[in-house]
Amino acid sequence: MSHYALECVECGRTFSDDSLLRCPRCGGLLEVALDYDAIEVDRRTLERRELGVWAFRELLPVSTDDPVTMGEGGTGLHPCPTLADELGVRSLHVKNEGENPTGSFKDRGMTVGVTKAVELGAEVVACASTGNTSASLAAYAARAGLTCAVLLPAGKVALGKLAQALFHGARVVPVDGNFDDALAVVRRLAEEGLVYLLNSVNPFRLSGQRTIAYEICRQLGWEVPDAVVVPVGNAGNISAIWQGFLDLRALGLIDELPRMYGVQAEGARPIVDAVLEGREDIEPDPDPETVATAIRIGNPVNAVKALRAIRCSGGWAVAVTDDEILRAQRKLATREGIFVEPASAASIAGLRRLVEAGEIEPDESVVCVTTGHGLKDPEIVMETCELPEPVEPDPERIKERLGLR
Ligand code: F0G
Repeated sequence: MSHYALECVECGRTFSDDSLLRCPRCGGLLEVALDYDAIEVDRRTLERRELGVWAFRELLPVSTDDPVTMGEGGTGLHPCPTLADELGVRSLHVKNEGENPTGSFKDRGMTVGVTKAVELGAEVVACASTGNTSASLAAYAARAGLTCAVLLPAGKVALGKLAQALFHGARVVPVDGNFDDALAVVRRLAEEGLVYLLNSVNPFRLSGQRTIAYEICRQLGWEVPDAVVVPVGNAGNISAIWQGFLDLRALGLIDELPRMYGVQAEGARPIVDAVLEGREDIEPDPDPETVATAIRIGNPVNAVKALRAIRCSGGWAVAVTDDEILRAQRKLATREGIFVEPASAASIAGLRRLVEAGEIEPDESVVCVTTGHGLKDPEIVMETCELPEPVEPDPERIKERLGLR
């Protein structure tokens, strides 16, 4: 007997066929449902292992001892006292997912998803992407010896991510359209059986991303923060992290649950609007726009799950302007030494709003998830930095320039 099944998030039916990417009965999204009675883990065993995705192997829906891995997960949970003071919360930790092998949280999903692709005998793996998913999939496909196809919104992918996808040897197709258009096409190719899909409709990928929650709890000595703040695009990650906390509680490893907060950019905010209006699904935005290109998404496929996570946890969603995002990005870099890409900084900008609105109280503990490394998008940073003119290598001139007299 397996320790998991695939469960439809719409009709609740369960299936044991791992090749499914939609419910064969109603077309709904599938999620990995763990059989908690069949899983034996305890805190001591988990604490003895080196932190990382595969430290939680009993909770992952694969049976192989030979996963496609590069040491993903085990990212820092950094205390940020200066920023906590400034934002007005008792404690703030940043879970810095930029420390993953390809520089984003996607690697947690890909190590599990690509391992499953190999298990299923897939030859071509594919995704649509705002950049990070494609960078990650290209790397893991290269490692597994699979062909990789990626569809990207033309002209809207940050340079670092594009370089990664190209250099790992993916077949890259820029699409005249946005992420949502590209995802619709690649889902179609998957339904025709031409490719194995590794977007966040893939339940195995999202299982890997649950380890963000597992690691936060272990790193806090099995304490649970009051609030977890996550940038939201296609809405898979916030759903996965919430499910991760639910797993740990069901297994008796934690007692409490955090409130989940989603943050979107003003120009791409369908989840925020649905939360504000108390709806259970979103109204797609055909024309999303934001400087945080990673979350430039108008029709998030995991919306129903994300809205459920936010509502069930007692959380909320907020939108932040591009200017707030860029200011938060700079603040994290200059005050705490953590360099993240704009989409990641949305969590910090969102926290400010949530504290101001009284959603998060001054005596509470908060974890902000920063999802991708700052080097992914050097262009956006250089737009706001001035490169000084060179001087001769003369100590006096250099002292003068450095203001060291
Ligand atoms: N932050 C970063 C840096 C991302 O790359 C993404 C998504 C998100 C946040 C949002 O996560 O979609 O699970 O809500 N990037 C995808 C991609 C869409 O193609 O790389 P989500």
